Formats: sequence, C-alpha cells, structure tokens
Amino acid sequence: MQVTIIGSGYVGLTTGVALAYLGHQVTLVDKNPVVVGSLVNGVSTIYEYGMDMLMQKARHNINFTTSFAGVGSSRVILIAVGTPSKSNGDADLGFVESAVTQIAEQLDGNNYPVIVDKSTVPPGTANRVRTLVNNILIGRRLHPEVNVASNPEFLREGTAFLDALYPDRIVIGAEEQSTTELLIELNKPIIEQDFVVPASLPRPKGYTGPVLFSTNPLNAELIKYASNAFLSAKISFINEFAGLAELLNADIIEIAHGMGLDSRIGDKFLRAGVGWGGSCFGKDARAILYTAQKYGYSLPLVQAAIEVNDRQKKLVLSKIRSALKTVPGSTIGIMGLAFKPDTDDIRDTPAKDLISELLNMGAFIKVYDPMAMDNYKKQYPDLPVEYAMDLENLAKGCDALVLLTEWEQFKDADLPALRQMMKRYIFIDGRNLFDPRVMSELGFVYCGVGRCVQVKELDAAGPKVQL
Ligand code: UDX
Repeated sequence: MQVTIIGSGYVGLTTGVALAYLGHQVTLVDKNPVVVGSLVNGVSTIYEYGMDMLMQKARHNINFTTSFAGVGSSRVILIAVGTPSKSNGDADLGFVESAVTQIAEQLDGNNYPVIVDKSTVPPGTANRVRTLVNNILIGRRLHPEVNVASNPEFLREGTAFLDALYPDRIVIGAEEQSTTELLIELNKPIIEQDFVVPASLPRPKGYTGPVLFSTNPLNAELIKYASNAFLSAKISFINEFAGLAELLNADIIEIAHGMGLDSRIGDKFLRAGVGWGGSCFGKDARAILYTAQKYGYSLPLVQAAIEVNDRQKKLVLSKIRSALKTVPGSTIGIMGLAFKPDTDDIRDTPAKDLISELLNMGAFIKVYDPMAMDNYKKQYPDLPVEYAMDLENLAKGCDALVLLTEWEQFKDADLPALRQMMKRYIFIDGRNLFDPRVMSELGFVYCGVGRCVQVKELDAAGPKVQL
C-alpha cells in the first residue's frame, strides 16, 4: 500500500521503516532538509535498536523528501509530527495543523487519502482536522470527502521495533467502516504475523498477534492519554511507597515483586527509581490535565502522579546532600544522561535538574553515558561539566557516583576497579541496579531507592553516613 508519513522523528521514522519492511511503499516527509539528507544517505538521525538493519532491508520501499508534492496519491497519510507542550500544558497542534493544511493543498479531488493521527493529540483533534481539511477543499471547489482516523502509537524508545512488529494491541479509531478496513489492511502483516521475522528482532515466545480494537477517533485519542497517564501513575505509586519503605527499613523490590504476583496488578512498571522522564509521560499528563480543566473537570490522580514524580527527582539530591554533607567542592560522577537505557534521548531526563542543582550548590560534575553524551553536549553546550570517556575515567577522583540510567553496560561494570579510582566511596543507585549487600561488601557506602537497609549496617563498621 502507498503510505505517506509526515514527520520523521522517533515515531514517524520507526513507524515508516517498520511499514516499509513489511512491504508497504512509504514516503517520509520532513521539513528539515538536514534530517532528510541524512536519511537519503541511509544514516538514521536517531538511535533505535534495529534501525540500521531494518532501514537497510527496507531501503527499496522507502523514500525521504521535504516536499508534500504527490502526497495525494497515497491511500493513507500518517501524521507523526511533534505536539510539544505550550507553557500552560496544552498540546501545541501547530505542526499538525500546518501538515494537514499542506496536505489539503495537494489534494486534486480524484483521490482522497485517509488522514491518520499517529501523534498523541488531544481528544477531538481528528474531528478538528477533518473540518480543517474539508474546509480547505471547499475553498478550492473540491468535494469535502476526506476521512480522518486516529491510530495511536504505543512505541517505547529502545524497543520501538519490537513494539511495532509485536504490539499487544492495535487501536483503530474511525467513523466509517471503510476507514477501519483500510487501516486493518495497512496493519495486516502485523495482525497475521506473516512477515519474515528479522533475526535481531525475534518474535516473543508465545506471541500470536495483537488484539485489534476498533472504536471511534475520540475514544482512540483518549485511550492513548489514559494509557500513558496510568503507566506514569503506576511508577509514581511504587516511588511513593519506596519512600515509605526506606523509613520503615523495608525493601521496595520485594514489595513490588509481591504486588506484581497479583495478575490484576501485574509486575510491569513497578520499578522504583529517580522518577519517569522522556518525551511522552510528562507532556501527555500536562496536556490531558489541561483538557480536563477546559471542561471544568479535574484529574487529581494524574496531578498527583506528576507531583510525586517531581518530589522523586528531588529525593536523589537530598540523598547526595546527606551522604556528602559538604556539597561545594565535591566531585560527583553521574552515570547515565538518557531518560532510560537503550536510547540517546535526553528529553525530560531526570539528569537535567539534578545536574543543575548540584552545579548551583558548587559541586564539580563529571558525566558518562554510553550513547547520550553527544545529544547532551549539543543541547547544553555551555554546561560546565566534564564528559568522561568511560566509567573508570568517570570514577577517577569522585566523592560520589550517582547512577541515573540503568544501562546494561553499568550492570557489568568492574565495581572494585571503580571504587579504587574514587576519593570517597559513596554510591547512590537511582535505579536499584545493584544489590545493596554486594555493594556494601565491596566497600561502597551504598544507597538505592526504597532499600537503604544495608547502608545502616555498613555505618556501624565504616564511614558515618546517614542517608
Ligand atoms: C512511553 C510509553 O511506554 C509508550 O507506550 C508511549 O508510546 C511513549 O511513552 P517511553 O517514554 O519510550 O514510552 O518509555 P517507557 O519505557 O515507558 O519509560 C518512561 C519512563 O518511565 C522512563 O524514564 C523510565 O525510566 C521510567 N520507568 C519505567 C520507571 O521509572 N519505572 C518503571 O517501572 C518503568
């Protein structure tokens, strides 16, 4: 099927490459000529596991361009442009509206592609887009026959291709049966799982295909917001209990495990840590709060998820302060800048505020991330931090190491070697990557999130540190 995708950020590019791999003829339109130039040369502008391999395999099915010319010949146009937050939290639909206006100007009245919102957009947007496009068509004396659907993505960065090829569900929000059928046809290889499985993206054991859920566009739009709000609230919930667990000398990992054994709760998204970040959770939570407010309604649980997350990010700072006592002049090594592992994305990363606060307090900051350092340098070119080339260089001369991203590489680190490079042996594990007992035995003054039990045992024998 001929498909056009507008926007080649994380969502547009991964969706486009996946659809091209599945056999569709994909045109990716992006207004940024630098991005398009790089993609034309086969170089991805984002890091995503499996991208290079799939791009290579799908090359013959995919075109990249800055031009909207010819979009009218597609059967489906997916809108995957950014919907950034305005200062009041509302989603800025400027890019969506600009894209659909340019699409409407290209239509010739012979072929009417279905326009599909992939981006996360406030409820009612499909309806607004339909009116906007059809009004332009009326102005151009063409029949106002464009249909608009919602087909939200649920891709997680780092596992976006696994999520695209083996999703739990596909939600199709459309008013007309013909539109639903078209989107089922688009997703047929995924629904029937009849594609050649890429060796590096194997089908999960026992996976038999997604559940197809067909509803109207408004419900589909809200499913996306409700899902993200629920997931962020689930993480905030376990983080809230992590604080209590610390006070009571309990272990949040055991608590989460015991909770997750209940199939009504499930064991996913119960990892306590430094709080959630990324391009979606915070932005979407604020956008849906704003939508509710416009209708004179409140969403106190969503509000609380944000507040708990803000508090959680600050808790790491207070752990560092308690451990170091005198922050000015201390050297602190930050392990991880990406908002989560397996991505170079630093949007809304918990590292950002923490690093600023520590710099303000007079600390010297060293940082290391296996993948996100270039992005960080580009985003904050004047930030007075030292970029280390590996973990050992990071640890050199540090009073404390603070782990913010649970990279696999960190799990395999030579911890005794790191400890030897340090000035003092404080280790704040913001992702509970390590076993507190092992860390204590290695001679670290260790503190995780919601499990500081063993630190107190160490206190008796070693340095006086109350975390
Ligand atoms: C999220 C949604 O999962 C995805 O469906 C949606 O389409 C986009 O937003 P993403 O932002 O890529 O995906 O990452 P995700 O894996 O959901 O993690 C988000 C944040 O929550 C990260 O900062 C992560 O570290 C944190 N997290 C996740 C936890 O702190 N604990 C957990 O148990 C899980």
